[in-house]
Amino acid sequence: MSSTQRWALILGASSGFGAATARALADAGFNIFGVHLDLKSTLPRARQVQADIEAKGRKAFFFNKNVADDRNRAEIIAKMKRLLGSRCKIHVVLHTVAFGNLKRYIADDPKDAVDRKAMEMTLDVMANSFVYWTQDLVRAGLLTRGSKVYSMTSAGSHRVFIGYGPVSAAKAALESHTRQLALELISKGICVNAIQAGAADTPALRAIPNQKEAVAHVKELHPDGRLTVPEDVARVIVALADPNVDWITGTVIRVDGGEDNW
Ligand SMILES: NC(=O)c1ccc[n+]([C@@H]2O[C@H](COP(=O)([O-])OP(=O)(O)OC[C@H]3O[C@@H](n4cnc5c(N)ncnc54)[C@H](O)[C@@H]3O)[C@@H](O)[C@H]2O)c1
Repeated sequence: MSSTQRWALILGASSGFGAATARALADAGFNIFGVHLDLKSTLPRARQVQADIEAKGRKAFFFNKNVADDRNRAEIIAKMKRLLGSRCKIHVVLHTVAFGNLKRYIADDPKDAVDRKAMEMTLDVMANSFVYWTQDLVRAGLLTRGSKVYSMTSAGSHRVFIGYGPVSAAKAALESHTRQLALELISKGICVNAIQAGAADTPALRAIPNQKEAVAHVKELHPDGRLTVPEDVARVIVALADPNVDWITGTVIRVDGGEDNW
C-alpha cells in the first residue's frame, strides 16, 4: 500500500455514529477498517456501509467480531498490519461501541437489577476495550505522529438517567481512560480525545428505558428543537483529521449543539 493513503479504524462501524463517520471519512479520502457486532437481522446495515465506502472509490475491510475479545483484537490487528505493510498507518481511530446493560441498580426482584457479570461486561466492552485496542495499535506500530484517537462519551458520564447506571459508569471510566492515554501518548504526537455527542436517534438510544420522554425533553429544551444526528459528529471528526490540528488532546469535545447546557 502507498504511504500516502489515509486509513481509519472504526470500532462500531455498522450503525449510528460509527457508520456516519465511516462514510464521511471515506468521502474525505480515507480507507476504512470497520469492526461491528451484527446478527443476521442487522448484518445488511454493515454490508451497506461497506458498499457505500467502496462506491466512493475507497477500500473497506469489515470484521463482524466482538471488540472486547482479546483473540479477535489480536487477529484483526495482525490482519490490518499485513494489509497495510510497514509504511501505512492508521490516522483516525474511533471507538463507538454501544453494548451496555440498562438495568437499575435497585429493584425488588434481584433479577431486575444489574449484577456483577452485567456490570463488568458493560465496563469491559464500553470503556476498557478502548484502552486495550489503543495499547495494541501502538505496539503494532500502526499509529503515527498526527494520529487521532477518539472515544465516544455522553452526558451520562456526569448526569443521572434511569436505567443508564452501568453505562454512566462506563462513560466516566472511558473519559478517565481517554485522559490517561492522552498523557501517555502526547510524546508520540498522538492525540486522544472523547467526543461527547448529544442524544441521537440510533438503535442504542432506542434501547434506553424512558428514552421517549428523554428525547421529548431534549427537543423541548433545545433552542434549535432537534436532536444531534450522527453526521454532526462525523463532520467534526473529519475536520479534526487535518494533520495541522495537533494540540487538542486529553479532553472531552462536546458535539451536542449545546444540549448539555440547557
Ligand atoms: N445515540 C446517542 O444518543 C448517544 C449519545 C452519546 C453517546 N453515544 C455513544 O456513542 C456510541 C455509539 O452509539 P450509537 O448510538 O451510534 O449506537 P448504535 O447502536 O447505532 O451503534 C453501535 C455500534 O456498535 C457495534 N457494537 C456493539 N457492540 C459491539 C461489540 N461488542 N463488538 C463490536 N461492535 C459492537 C454495533 O455493531 C454498531 O456498529 C456508544 O458508545 C454510545 O454510548 C450515543
